[in-house]
Amino acid sequence: MAIRQILEFPDPRLRTRAAAVDVVDSRITKLIDDMFETMYEANGIGLAATQVDVHEQVIVIDLSNNKENPRVFINPKIEVIDPELDGFEEGCLSVPGFNESVERPKIVKVSALDREGNEFTETLKGLLAICLQHEMDHLAGKLFVDYLSPAKRQRIRQRLEKEQRRRA
Ligand code: NI
Repeated sequence: MAIRQILEFPDPRLRTRAAAVDVVDSRITKLIDDMFETMYEANGIGLAATQVDVHEQVIVIDLSNNKENPRVFINPKIEVIDPELDGFEEGCLSVPGFNESVERPKIVKVSALDREGNEFTETLKGLLAICLQHEMDHLAGKLFVDYLSPAKRQRIRQRLEKEQRRRA
């Protein structure tokens, strides 16, 4: 396993639309292992392949406190079950240091492939529903800052660019 570099806003590569995975082979399982290691190391609860500059539809999520519940979603498709919106303070490993409230549908049904390439369907609510929708946005080249006002997004962009220049 290897820790991969996480792209940060406003890196234009985060705007790439991910392609569907054709076959869940050893290349994809290696990617999944690396994504979990990268996410755990960064203390995240979800990561999309887009964030490590791989533009294929792979998402990893673990909402447990102790790496106990690794979840994999390959080529996910969602259907909104309860369109009522719920606000939640979201953060993102690609937008480090910022948390802002985003409203999303409360209950969704997802169909995806698991780590073995088997299809499954599951109804998600609560944090898992929020997290999956956030990660699916990444696969479409979208970030949670896109839901904020232009002024707020600009302020976050400037702060992160300053930090990125300082590190370079
Ligand atoms: Ni994110």
